[in-house]
Amino acid sequence: MTKVLGISGSLRRSSYNSALLRAAARLMPPEATLEIASIRGIPLYDYDVEVQGIPAAVTQLKEAIVAADGVLLVTPEYNNSLPGVFKNAIDWLSRPPADARRVFAGRPFAVIGASAGNWGTVLSQAAWLPVLRTLGTLPWFGGRLQLARAASAFDETGSLKDAAVEEQLKQFLAGFVSFLRRPGN
Ligand SMILES: Cc1cc2nc3c(=O)[nH]c(=O)nc-3n(C[C@H](O)[C@H](O)[C@H](O)COP(=O)(O)O)c2cc1C
Repeated sequence: MTKVLGISGSLRRSSYNSALLRAAARLMPPEATLEIASIRGIPLYDYDVEVQGIPAAVTQLKEAIVAADGVLLVTPEYNNSLPGVFKNAIDWLSRPPADARRVFAGRPFAVIGASAGNWGTVLSQAAWLPVLRTLGTLPWFGGRLQLARAASAFDETGSLKDAAVEEQLKQFLAGFVSFLRRPGN
């Protein structure tokens, strides 16, 4: 069974990105599972805190990443870039440098996202690229999902109700999982 770890970059209770991630867990191909992890509880990065010990929430998320075959980042867009809270979590996960390779290097990553606006996280997803490159990840570029006007894609309980988006998400996940199952990945 192929294991994907999904992380939403929003802490908002009614987050579209968290709702999209829940939909992804439901739409995974049968040969794969998607475990949902959270950035909640990760403090603001502070070297003075780091030298006292990596916070438990960071260690827990690191080990979840290490146990996965691939990672799906579900990113909001803030001010035409990636959200600080999400980047802060990734920054913590990259510490200490001696452990960063174990967590990130050569690990397949995919990025999707949902925004309230018309452009569906295009700029946020682009802003993740230098981060993923710096960490030495193996980004998968075989699919795209940039959900614009997200309010109309979900019902009031946060369930995905747009059949076209559901199909797009299914295709995206199938593509990512088949990449993960390629020999050598
Ligand atoms: C600080 C801030 C900046 C934002 N900037 C953008 C933006 O640049 N582009 C965009 O499409 N939406 C922007 N939005 C709206 C978000 O798309 C919207 O809040 C969305 O619901 C965030 O994702 P979430 O539902 O997963 O929390 C911004 C929201 C906030 C709070």
